[in-house]
Amino acid sequence: MPTERIFAACAPGLEELLAAELVALGLAARATPGGAEAEGPGAVAAACLGSRLADAVSVRLHAGPAAGLDGALAAARERFGRDAGFQVRRRGGEATLSLDAAGSPLYKRGWRARVGAAPLRETMAAAMLAFGGFDGERPFLDPMCGSGTLAVEAALVAARRAPGHGRRFAFEDWPGHDAARTRELRERLAARERTPPFPVAASDRNGGAVRLATRNAAAAGVAEWVRVERRDAAEVTPPPGRGLLAVNPPYGERLDGDPAGAWRALAALLPRLAGWRLVVLAPDRGLEKLLGLRPSGALSTRNGGLACLLLRYDL
Ligand SMILES: C[S@@+](CC[C@H](N)C(=O)[O-])C[C@H]1O[C@@H](n2cnc3c(N)ncnc32)[C@H](O)[C@@H]1O
Repeated sequence: MPTERIFAACAPGLEELLAAELVALGLAARATPGGAEAEGPGAVAAACLGSRLADAVSVRLHAGPAAGLDGALAAARERFGRDAGFQVRRRGGEATLSLDAAGSPLYKRGWRARVGAAPLRETMAAAMLAFGGFDGERPFLDPMCGSGTLAVEAALVAARRAPGHGRRFAFEDWPGHDAARTRELRERLAARERTPPFPVAASDRNGGAVRLATRNAAAAGVAEWVRVERRDAAEVTPPPGRGLLAVNPPYGERLDGDPAGAWRALAALLPRLAGWRLVVLAPDRGLEKLLGLRPSGALSTRNGGLACLLLRYDL
């Protein structure tokens, strides 16, 4: 199988998490601003089918001296047609020529029934789980689940279902595409699937959010593994064991009301979470001080166009 070079894009601040994921998928990868460069045999298929964190994957058709760009572009047009939508970037004497390999944003996993008030991208949810070291070998809880993005992603991780499951990608229509190899990869990924060994719990105080999360879990095929209930975060009973709580409390920027109250509700839940790990996506406004804890890890990123922090706490 020929070596392919790819660029995988992600939200700023998540590059190291993405590069580590691509390495776990068997590629040589390094973080670079806005994403990760990676290479390896079958890198395009491995990343499109297997990356939970990448928003987009493009194949690098040229990366090097700008003088080589015209020749690379001519060869690319010859292979892929005119209108293939090549991306050219020039910087100083260097240039890259790339082609989107997925065809549609990778964060659209295909299950979302209807967009809630402030849903997370599936890729941001996956990054939060990765930041929390979640591999499905312990319980999961999101006590402010909204449309259920984090709980659905946690159930999919725990079930070891590949993010590219059931999706077809642009690269599969490229001339010379090795369909048999892609089919083999799909079969290998499908063979890893299992029943999640621990519960995935989601709750929200808003009835509409609970209904939406329930529908989304069903659409994603994980309804039997995700328990969704209507409850204030302050009154949630976490599943037994030492799990991961990942949550995206309201920012207050859009429709979702009282952000400080939500952080206080989260603080009220803390005494029931001994031994748990917490990952919180927090607006960059100091609200996390209401938890009264010192984070064990922090990343600056952006979500929905706003600067925010990914904070990790070990309780
Ligand atoms: C930013 S949204 C979460 C979005 C969600 N991550 C998604 O992907 O759709 C915040 C959610 O917190 C919920 N919420 C706010 N305060 C709460 C509380 N005290 N207890 C439970 N849920 C709360 C809101 O109803 C809202 O659904």
